[in-house]
Amino acid sequence: MSKASILVVDDEQEIREGLELLLGSEGYRVFQAENAQQGLAALDREPVDLLLLDVALPDRNGLDLLREIRSKDPALPVILITAYGSIDMARQAFKAGALDYITKPWSNDELLAQVAQAVEGRRLREENLLLKRALKQRYNFPNIIGKSEQMQRVLDLVMQVAPSRSTVLITGESGTGKELIAKAIHAASPRAEKPFIAVNTGSMPVDLLESQLFGHVKGAFTSAVSSKKGLFEVADQGTIFFDEISTISHETQAKLLRVIQEREFMRLGGTETIRVDVRILAASNVDLAALVRQGRFREDLFHRLNVISLQLPPLRDRKEDIPLLVQHFIERYCAENNKPLRRFTAQAMRVLMDYDWPGNVRELENAVERAVVLSTSEWLDPDLLPENVRSKEIVKGVRLQLSEFLPPLPGEPGARRAADNPTPSLFEIMEEIERRVITDMLERTNWNQTEAAERFQIPLSTLNQKIKRLGIEVRRRNPPRTASSDEAEEEPAGRAASG
Ligand SMILES: Nc1ncnc2c1ncn2[C@@H]1O[C@H](COP(=O)(O)OP(=O)(O)OP(=O)(O)O)[C@@H](O)[C@H]1O
Ligand SMILES: [Mg+2]
Repeated sequence: MSKASILVVDDEQEIREGLELLLGSEGYRVFQAENAQQGLAALDREPVDLLLLDVALPDRNGLDLLREIRSKDPALPVILITAYGSIDMARQAFKAGALDYITKPWSNDELLAQVAQAVEGRRLREENLLLKRALKQRYNFPNIIGKSEQMQRVLDLVMQVAPSRSTVLITGESGTGKELIAKAIHAASPRAEKPFIAVNTGSMPVDLLESQLFGHVKGAFTSAVSSKKGLFEVADQGTIFFDEISTISHETQAKLLRVIQEREFMRLGGTETIRVDVRILAASNVDLAALVRQGRFREDLFHRLNVISLQLPPLRDRKEDIPLLVQHFIERYCAENNKPLRRFTAQAMRVLMDYDWPGNVRELENAVERAVVLSTSEWLDPDLLPENVRSKEIVKGVRLQLSEFLPPLPGEPGARRAADNPTPSLFEIMEEIERRVITDMLERTNWNQTEAAERFQIPLSTLNQKIKRLGIEVRRRNPPRTASSDEAEEEPAGRAASG
């Protein structure tokens, strides 16, 4: 992958050259311009991935220039270089469309991190665009995101089954995209122009469901004051999608089987046989085969539905799709809420990648929507994610609450008397962080120091020294599972004592 290119616009030569050196050493291609005019010319000449722009240029107000550049290329990420760094400046910068700003003098590490994030964000947006274009060309599914092998297999299968009339059973945990896939099958089928009707069988009483599906004649039941077409008639030549098929009653299952086999049915209370040509798709997030074994689902219907089965993988098994899905949902919800494009900080992205997503894509979508709606600035940080999504990270100890280490300074909110409030030295703070991270790792490796050292990628002797220096109390490892230690296993005194 070729490294990104960056244009630096700043009137101070020292700054331009410093940045070129720093960024060049990280492999970026760097271009320089010393004023607005040169900057604009450079942008016309060469597309770049990121712009570092001084706000105080000799020939033009930087914010003004930023607005012009953004109107030409709204997707170009811009980081402003400012000497003032006031809140007001930041607000103006974001308003004018800057992704971020840095204040002179800056820390190189921080600057590199900001640059890397900006470039990564742009790369993701581009990858997403390309992916969408490819998916659209190949399958015409602009709304289905997934580059993982599992999803590509699903989409290939969708294309294979779409042209036929076969029944397809789509299985997968809640929120994996079963309805989305059902719609895609319909959209890619010769029935695309005909109705797609999703039936949520949920907790509907049998009579109501059947009258909805098959219609009724006048007088079929007390409230049937006129005849009514059922969904099977409405969907004629199209597709009916049964969401959560496992919930339908035995009685309805029998009628459904008949429609699938004979392609005909009668309205409730009717005598006339109605023939329809409807393709049936069904979804389930429970194991239908197991229900069949328990006698709770008709075996013959199961086999009829399961002519082709399409399994949607849980999101945790295809984590490489997460960044693309996140980008997709950010774009959707920023547009929907009229907000400029947001981005997750690297830390927040790590939280999203680490979480297991039991509610799958829907849960991820909701988390992104929530973060976008609650956000007040360009950056989405872990605080904007739901507590349960963050909790894993908190448990892992990766996320350290800075306020724990840095009590408020005198005069800041929450500060008590200065004397009660000594700030620990940086050395003490770093030691405490190191102590916690090492303790956490040791706990997770069951106090296996060799494994912990390997995971930290440091020599065992270094870990030993640190443990001693930091005064970490080494706990006994649990005895291995052997016949002779079975008793010890049953009574894990060591663990219980350590809490
Ligand atoms: N691969 C994907 N790309 C983009 N959006 C997706 C993808 N998969 C799911 N979604 C989105 O996630 C949400 C949930 O999808 P959908 O309703 O199809 O899931 P489901 O499997 O039917 O869930 P449930 O079992 O809870 O009914 C929808 O908003 C859908 O658009
Ligand atoms: Mg669904």
